[in-house]
Amino acid sequence: MSIQTDRSRQLLAESKLYLAGGVASSLRAAMKPTPLFAVSGSGPRVRDEDGNEYIDYLLAYGPLILGHAHPSLAEAVGEALKRGATFGLQHTGEIELGKLLVEALPCADRVALSGSGTEAVMLALRLSRAYTGRQKVVRFHGHFHGWSDAIFTSFPSPDMKQAAAAASAGAVPPGTSGQSELSLKDVVLLPWNDFDALEQTLRERKDEIAAVISEPIMCNNGCIRPKPGYLEKMRELTAELGLVMILDEVITGFRLGLSGAHGKFGLKPDLVTIGKAMGGGIAISGVAGKEDIMALIENGTVGHLGTLNGNAVATSAALATLRELAKDGGSAYGRMERTADRLVEGIRSLLAKHGIPGLVNQAGPVFHMMFIGEEKVEDFDAFNKRDAAKYARFAERMLEEGVLIRPSGLWYVSAVHGEDETRATLAAIDRVMAGLHS
Ligand SMILES: Cc1ncc(COP(=O)(O)O)c(C=O)c1O
Repeated sequence: MSIQTDRSRQLLAESKLYLAGGVASSLRAAMKPTPLFAVSGSGPRVRDEDGNEYIDYLLAYGPLILGHAHPSLAEAVGEALKRGATFGLQHTGEIELGKLLVEALPCADRVALSGSGTEAVMLALRLSRAYTGRQKVVRFHGHFHGWSDAIFTSFPSPDMKQAAAAASAGAVPPGTSGQSELSLKDVVLLPWNDFDALEQTLRERKDEIAAVISEPIMCNNGCIRPKPGYLEKMRELTAELGLVMILDEVITGFRLGLSGAHGKFGLKPDLVTIGKAMGGGIAISGVAGKEDIMALIENGTVGHLGTLNGNAVATSAALATLRELAKDGGSAYGRMERTADRLVEGIRSLLAKHGIPGLVNQAGPVFHMMFIGEEKVEDFDAFNKRDAAKYARFAERMLEEGVLIRPSGLWYVSAVHGEDETRATLAAIDRVMAGLHS
């Protein structure tokens, strides 16, 4: 079976006449058999220009936690637009959202709003440097923190040995050509989930290190959980040495629960970055954290700028999304987890049934499926042993079965995916796996 993609291909060719590369974000160019042009979405389903309909687990790379065109979100955004999209003045929506965030996120005394995850990370790094008076930032192999020059290292890294060798020679491999080499001189790249490596580096170089930034779960590469005690020890050590611990919750924030991963894990980092699911598909992000660090914005030490920061459309989208997620004691999270659990259990049984070596790492409503001979994938080196080409083939064939998944292996489940979607998805996987050897 193959799907019609003529119209998407035609539109890509037309788009290339005007948009560099024909797509608005480089990652999208890699989609096989071709980048698809969406027409509309509703709930857990999306339709493309060729008339194909897919059950959607891409979910726009994470933000669509309520699925497509959720009525509460659509209404809130529509009403906000009627009142005025943005003012460049303050409005009460910012206060309502700020209050909601401070109440939901355990580490948040104050928040600062921005537009994208990349900007939030930029601000968190800037706050850390101003707070400590130090320059360097520790980040980890396999994590992703957006595409600003200050933090974008090779991603996904095809060869970690090469990256590690370059890093130990003092040159962190850039994420792209054209990136300032100077900014990456402030980045110290370490393996994740290795507390000894972290402790050694932090103790030796504490006088130059401003911050450690980490995803709480390595969602971007393998959905790998922290080893028991790892983040807690990171917390203790960074506090002891007086440097800032930043948890990048752009994926996990509001996805694992309303209090984010740090709330779930009972951790209090100094700063967290949030984005993606927060706005349900409308651009909004933020930094939340400790009063004395966030005070650097208030007293003018750290610049926090952005024409559209806190605009009324974005704040109303975030308020609608977070209120929807909080309804009935947060029952959406239970629903998402049950759907994800059923999918993951089903995928594991199907891997066994078809004798395909593979595994699934799950963190609540997000999971990473991979074809790999390992029993477990608990670090980035193990993750790099997966058969990425085979998975990309699998993703392409799933499209033919009406299921949209990310070719990297990361699946997102929304609050509106249910039994019907789970059943249809597992049946599709069964058929695709049956033909995967050919
Ligand atoms: C953990 C993490 N941080 C930051 C970002 C950057 O966010 P954005 O794409 O909104 O700039 C991403 C994006 O995928 C992310 O996964």
